[in-house]
Amino acid sequence: MSDIFETVRLTLQAIESATPDTSDALEQFRIQYLGTKGEIKALMEEMRTIPNERKKEFGQLINALKQGAEEKYQHLKAIQDALAENAAAAQFDLTAPGEPLALGSRHPVAVTLNRIVDIFTRIGFSVADGPEIEDDWHNFTSMNTPEDHPARDMQDTFYVVDAPGMLLRTHTSPVQARVMENRKPPIRIIAPGRVYRNETISTRSHCQFHQVEGLYIDEGVSFADLKQTLLYFAQEMFGAPKIRLRPSFFPFTEPSAEMDIWLGTDTEKNYRLTKGTGWLEILGCGMVDPQVLENCGIDATKYSGFAFGMGIERQTLRLYEIGDIRLVFENDVRFLRQFSAAL
Ligand code: PHE
Repeated sequence: MSDIFETVRLTLQAIESATPDTSDALEQFRIQYLGTKGEIKALMEEMRTIPNERKKEFGQLINALKQGAEEKYQHLKAIQDALAENAAAAQFDLTAPGEPLALGSRHPVAVTLNRIVDIFTRIGFSVADGPEIEDDWHNFTSMNTPEDHPARDMQDTFYVVDAPGMLLRTHTSPVQARVMENRKPPIRIIAPGRVYRNETISTRSHCQFHQVEGLYIDEGVSFADLKQTLLYFAQEMFGAPKIRLRPSFFPFTEPSAEMDIWLGTDTEKNYRLTKGTGWLEILGCGMVDPQVLENCGIDATKYSGFAFGMGIERQTLRLYEIGDIRLVFENDVRFLRQFSAAL
């Protein structure tokens, strides 16, 4: 009789001091004490041999035994599961080679722009920036194109419905206006950026494109300076042997001209570009109209200047001999990848 109580006490001690520290040992522990053929079950079966007056005491001891074994098992199981999970995570191999990330490439329009910026910064021009959503004054009126001026037809654009007088800029000339309003001459800037026009002339036309405009204002700036600057540009950009300036009209310059570069008539390809003349138009330019200088707070009796503007996409086509302007808008990676070596 006292033996069985002694056995219970020893079992309790054994459970308390057990250290099943592997999953196998823990399973062994479970089978040994909690299994259907385990020691606790066997002890419970001894109940019938216990005299009635001690049955309650015995029952309580067995319950405590069972509960202790159960708790120890659950506790150690939780620890072992957590350790196993960590071990699985630790097996993540940090030295394994990664998924290769394809190297991107610059868009040909960006490459062209960088090249233009580089050419002009070499001779002292700096880059100026301005908003793409402009007010009427900076985009049109200050540029000698008041509301009823027919030249507005050539640069129809998109207006902001909720903000009367606000529009998407049609050229980067408003950046020039802003610079003139805020700085004193000498001013020597180029203004690259996105511009917008409401054009649905053909399937090739696109409502957004890029421009670079340039402005040089100082005392005594002449048409000769304009011509020499643009000749330098044409030679650096295209290696063009010669340029020609044809009289033209812009509301903000007087006199105004369009500049052509000489490609020659030798090849079929050039015939298509120049329509047999050998000359390709690449930009518009002129001496800043004194009224524009005054509009922007610059004393036109003291200062003069020249300005020019060009579409970057057009220069891109020329630079890389691309036959269709849609290619530079579509962003087809098979096309773009060809420029990955370009800077
Ligand atoms: N702003 C003109 C345009 O968008 C380009 C230009 C700039 C022409 C400066 C002459 C002088 O068409």
